[in-house]
Amino acid sequence: MARTQILAAIKNAPSYISGEELSRQLQISRSAVWKHVVALRQEGYEIEAHTRLGYRLRSASPRLLASEVLPRLTTKRLGQNYHFFASLPSTNRTAKELARQGAPEGTLVVAEEQTAGRGRLGRAWVSPRNCGIYLSLVLRPAVPLGMAAQVTLLTSVSYCRAIEQVTGLKPMIKWPNDVLLSGKKICGILTEVHAEMEAVNYLIVGIGMNVNHQGADFPEEVRPVATSLALEAGKTVDSTQLLLAFLACLEADYDRWLSDGFGSIREQWLARAAGLGRPVQIVAGQRQWQGRLASIDEEGALLVTDTDGATHRVYSGEVSIRPEGGTGYDFGD
Ligand code: BTN
Repeated sequence: MARTQILAAIKNAPSYISGEELSRQLQISRSAVWKHVVALRQEGYEIEAHTRLGYRLRSASPRLLASEVLPRLTTKRLGQNYHFFASLPSTNRTAKELARQGAPEGTLVVAEEQTAGRGRLGRAWVSPRNCGIYLSLVLRPAVPLGMAAQVTLLTSVSYCRAIEQVTGLKPMIKWPNDVLLSGKKICGILTEVHAEMEAVNYLIVGIGMNVNHQGADFPEEVRPVATSLALEAGKTVDSTQLLLAFLACLEADYDRWLSDGFGSIREQWLARAAGLGRPVQIVAGQRQWQGRLASIDEEGALLVTDTDGATHRVYSGEVSIRPEGGTGYDFGD
């Protein structure tokens, strides 16, 4: 509490604020003030200390601390119940535990590093410190189970919109939810559903965002197919700004989806769709077949035209976009 107040006082001061003034305002000793300043520096705040003038904030912490995120959050629900960790095995796992205990919709778990991050199909999601944003949201939409998959589609649209706002880059989406820049993956989305009978109880939407990774931060085997916002923009990206923009975009899109259905998101998804009209290979279970990517339907299923001209709906499976007459690329999903 005292630390939050000291930070606020230092942030709000037009210039230096003396240790004496802080100790008077907070009714604590000057050495206690100093201890809090040391702790704030350890949290990443650059605070100048001048013997005569006192303290001055040189720069805020770049970390996704509650003290940086919450005062700037513009959402009503998403992120308001905020849980930040320096390290976790997996944010999805922690979010699921919180959801089981009744955590409200919008509960957000953010970690600076994951030691057992999980990807789709049981794969690992390597999550090094100081590079990415690893987060999971608890959502409780009152929708039938059949609509749950649409949440991953809408999350990819919201993340694209946030990237566009913050960096000016123009990402694309490969069905169902791979977000791409220069044809390479810049985030992974893992949605886990807890449903009873036909109704969704809660969803955990987990997102691994490749933000400030350099090439060497990626495991060697994914380097050819992965990139980060910093690599694409050619400069460091402000993680706090990106997170705030994403939560604002997602809340707006999610609320529109709840009130108007998937049709309202479909246009936005199609505007960013990778590979429309291109030859694709579909792998669904044991079955593999070739076709041409036509569109997505009103429910979010992929529409693929086969070589006889018949259109098929694809609800799950992996899609590889192939260059005309070539072998194509894949993201290993
Ligand atoms: C994919 O395979 O593309 C999905 C990867 C999802 C990774 C994120 S990182 C945050 C959240 N916690 C996890 O353990 N996984 C998801």
